[in-house]
Amino acid sequence: MNIDLNKIELLLRDSKLIQRIFYYEFIDSTNDVAKDLMGHGLLVIAEKQKRGKGRRGRLWISPYGGLWFSLVMKLNRNRYPIPLYNLMVGVAVARVIKKLGLDVCLKWPNDVIINNKKVCGILSEVIKDRIVIGIGINVNVDIQEFPIDLRSSVTSLMNELGNEVDREELLVNIIKEIENMYLKFDKNEILKSWKALDMTLNKYVRVLLNNKVIEGLAIDIDNDGALLIITSNNELMKFYSCDVSIR
Ligand code: BTN
Repeated sequence: MNIDLNKIELLLRDSKLIQRIFYYEFIDSTNDVAKDLMGHGLLVIAEKQKRGKGRRGRLWISPYGGLWFSLVMKLNRNRYPIPLYNLMVGVAVARVIKKLGLDVCLKWPNDVIINNKKVCGILSEVIKDRIVIGIGINVNVDIQEFPIDLRSSVTSLMNELGNEVDREELLVNIIKEIENMYLKFDKNEILKSWKALDMTLNKYVRVLLNNKVIEGLAIDIDNDGALLIITSNNELMKFYSCDVSIR
């Protein structure tokens, strides 16, 4: 069944964040449409994406049954470091998935993980004073829909629960979590909530940055959202965006 737009509009009628909702059956990428539309408080949803965008130029496989959406919000970059917006959205998604009874954790900078497999990815793009945050969640997706090489590292909510999840309620609950955090933007709360769910901290990690591999112990998330690592040479390094794997 397609996403019920009327239900989403009804459930979000009192939203202080969402002003307009755009729904598409099949588009290249909700982030790209959101970037063209711009504004503030926009929500762009697609049933399927042809060329869903992942981090670092990767393709994001977006079959029917998932939740593929982007939000456009005003950015207050003088007060709040941009990486904190990502962490805020990761926390929002994780909180809502946890309420479904699943044991969920977060992998810096923005993966939502269940049983060591990725269930959701987040891609933010900044344009002037706006941030477009794209959220992709494998909701009612059969793992066989993914290419064979990805099947051991991805999961879906349906796969974990053994039953389908109401996509409209999931979306609305995530938006409400984001809205609450965005409106008060309490940096400490965002960081504290992220750290409580983070699977990267206190682990030996391998960071891939510009084709260079750096290994070390992930010791903390800094107040600006960066990952802090102590390397084997006892050097403290700070990362804002990179690929991290746990050794
Ligand atoms: C990642 O690589 O983990 C980020 C994936 C982000 C995917 C979402 S799906 C909705 C939005 N539109 C896109 O093209 N990408 C994001």
